Amino acid sequence: MTLETSRDLFVYNLKEMYYIENQLVEMLDELASDTPDEKLAKGFADHRDETRRQVERLETVFREIHETPETIESGVLDGLKRDHEEFKREVTSNDLKTPYHLAAGIKTERMEITGYQGLIMLANEIDFDGDVKGPLKENLDEEEDTLQTLTTMQKGSNIKKAIQNLL
Ligand SMILES: [Fe+2]
Ligand SMILES: [Fe+2]
Repeated sequence: MTLETSRDLFVYNLKEMYYIENQLVEMLDELASDTPDEKLAKGFADHRDETRRQVERLETVFREIHETPETIESGVLDGLKRDHEEFKREVTSNDLKTPYHLAAGIKTERMEITGYQGLIMLANEIDFDGDVKGPLKENLDEEEDTLQTLTTMQKGSNIKKAIQNLL
């Protein structure tokens, strides 16, 4: 794929985001079943369901711009995945999973937010209409809400207590 125009870059980034969201459905499913803190586990399960809908919204965007939904691998997402595999190999205390998964979740949401902000910025420049920008904005809003929820949890007393118990 040759990239020459802003539209080419938009499609390229969209395909990368499509890869990211598809991978995240699986990753969030794993996090939901492997996180000891119930509230956080439920948060991951809820966001997994949300992420399935985000995948569908991206398919709507592909349709609107007359492109086929395809994925382009994201090195950033693959790196996050490798980090998690490494952690799983090294960790011996189950309770450490809660703070680690929480921090990994925050990192992932920030990465997604950056991705959607870039896509929306390009969509504005290209002058795509609301049918393209709307679904992207909805996804961005969900990522921002999730980041907010996870950040609040990180400051919450049950997570702090869990960390203190492991000192
Ligand atoms: Fe997402
Ligand atoms: Fe997300």
